[in-house]
Amino acid sequence: MNYSKIIHQIEHELQDFPNNGKVASYIPELSKVDPEMFGLHLYCIDGNHHSFGDSTERFSIQSISKVFSLTLAMQLLGDDLWKRMDVEPSGNAYNSLFQLERENGIPRNPFINSGALVISDILVSEYDNPKDEILKFVRKISGKHTINFNEKVAQSEKQHGHRNAALANLMKSFGNIKNDINAILDVYFYQCSLAMSCEELASAFMLFANEGKILETNEQVILPIKVQRINALMQTCGFYDEAGEFAFRVGLPGKSGVGGGIVTVHPEKYSAAVWSPKLNQKGNSLLGMETLERLTTKTGLSIF
Ligand code: DON
Repeated sequence: MNYSKIIHQIEHELQDFPNNGKVASYIPELSKVDPEMFGLHLYCIDGNHHSFGDSTERFSIQSISKVFSLTLAMQLLGDDLWKRMDVEPSGNAYNSLFQLERENGIPRNPFINSGALVISDILVSEYDNPKDEILKFVRKISGKHTINFNEKVAQSEKQHGHRNAALANLMKSFGNIKNDINAILDVYFYQCSLAMSCEELASAFMLFANEGKILETNEQVILPIKVQRINALMQTCGFYDEAGEFAFRVGLPGKSGVGGGIVTVHPEKYSAAVWSPKLNQKGNSLLGMETLERLTTKTGLSIF
């Protein structure tokens, strides 16, 4: 497969693509990004890297971080985790409140905000310094030790995080949050503020394409059965109320963030990260989805 030729063809085809998406502005710091940034990094299981555009530029990974925190929580709690949240697609926006009330404070899945907040609660209970552990884990699996939180993004979200505070308070009223609300929001906002490039995200997510092993070192970080479950959750819940559309058009497990990043994995073949900050109405990168759809169409490879 000539991946390099394929991705450069896609880059060329999308040069004049009409992108009428909108950069996220509900976290004011995110609106400062250059809306025209666009990059892709493809990391193949044979160790080859292919990329174009702004693929080494760091951006706010936002909800993509929920995959990292879920992985840590699954390592810490095992199946007990699923007593506190479900594994069903929500069919609703990532920050929606009404379903959570109807379902007695049990989030539909770990990738909507309520689920990620329960995960933060678990990390606060289990670790002395959860933010350090998240950072250590991401640096380890990506092999990039300069990755860090973006203080300005974290503070900006903290100042405007009323919906997340509402979700956390609602769950606390149902007994599904054990720790201090501010402590868990702090962990959540910092993990969302992680700044990574497409190259770094593709490296980190190779773990999920490579049965839980770091490709460079062959270190087994998580068991293959856990990777299968995380991939299943990315497939069914990674794009909120657009999970069906993403499965239909792209056909790979993946996770998006409102910073405009999307990471996907093709188990035993590759991981791919794309970034374009303008989002569609469901909060997923418009050009990012288009790029990945063309990637899976042109390679003709499918997990189905
Ligand atoms: O909690 C929030 O609203 C953001 N920190 C993350 C949301 C997000 O990335 C949803 N993704 N599409």
